[in-house]
Amino acid sequence: MPLRFLHPYIDVTKKIKHPSNPYVAKFLNGTLPIQYGEKLKSSMGEWRAEIDKFHVNSHASSEIINKETSQRPLWIEIGCHTGEILITLAERYPKHNVVGIDITFKRIVRSAEKILKKKLKNAMCLFADARYIDELFAKEEVTGVVIFFPDPWLKKKRSKNRLVNREFCQKLFCILQPGGFVWFKTDQKIYFDGVLECMDELGFERQEAVEHTDFISEKRKYFSAFQRQFMHKDIPTFEAFLRKQSI
Ligand SMILES: C[S@@+](CC[C@H](N)C(=O)[O-])C[C@H]1O[C@@H](n2cnc3c(N)ncnc32)[C@H](O)[C@@H]1O
Repeated sequence: MPLRFLHPYIDVTKKIKHPSNPYVAKFLNGTLPIQYGEKLKSSMGEWRAEIDKFHVNSHASSEIINKETSQRPLWIEIGCHTGEILITLAERYPKHNVVGIDITFKRIVRSAEKILKKKLKNAMCLFADARYIDELFAKEEVTGVVIFFPDPWLKKKRSKNRLVNREFCQKLFCILQPGGFVWFKTDQKIYFDGVLECMDELGFERQEAVEHTDFISEKRKYFSAFQRQFMHKDIPTFEAFLRKQSI
């Protein structure tokens, strides 16, 4: 079975011969802000504390950390690639926590190395297949979800592999706090329309990113690597900022 389809609680590093993948060794030495495997189970619902424990105080108990940090907004980026947008968000919003998720060792290591190099104390990387997002984050744990250019699976018979389908949108609804957002971009109109339809059914409201004026006034900062490639080739892209209604 390809690694990408394994359940995230399975320790993938045990399934790989180390010499064949230099990035696995970097996972194992534990110095990078990366979480994977069984540890993900206990981090569910505790991500703010986990980030603090890694960067600030590894000896503090979860209860103490939780008191200090439980109000902090938690944003996640699905498909964080080499960490560019993750780092931009973490730098611009130092009082938020940001978690990047990806499915390849190399991209997660690259992202995590950038977090350390920039001395960011509010960010972390998570190696997991995001299809299991509801087993990585607890109900209403997350304040915002960024998904820029998820793999489009262009061939018709492969389109069922698209990550952001009806079931996945329901999972996002579940992990998001009321008032939380999903920021989605793609170059595939058919993908875009399908996602908007699902989000609409779930009661998400499409809006300009009014509360986050940075997102609007400094849009360029959030042009991802894939977006820049599409712009360079004059390929149109589609973008929506969707908010889960507050009760
Ligand atoms: C097309 S790239 C886009 C990268 C970046 N977001 C951008 O806009 O430049 C898709 C990214 O999603 C990651 N990815 C694909 N399937 C995933 C999954 N099921 N869970 C987590 N990440 C995934 C890939 O490894 C890759 O880094």
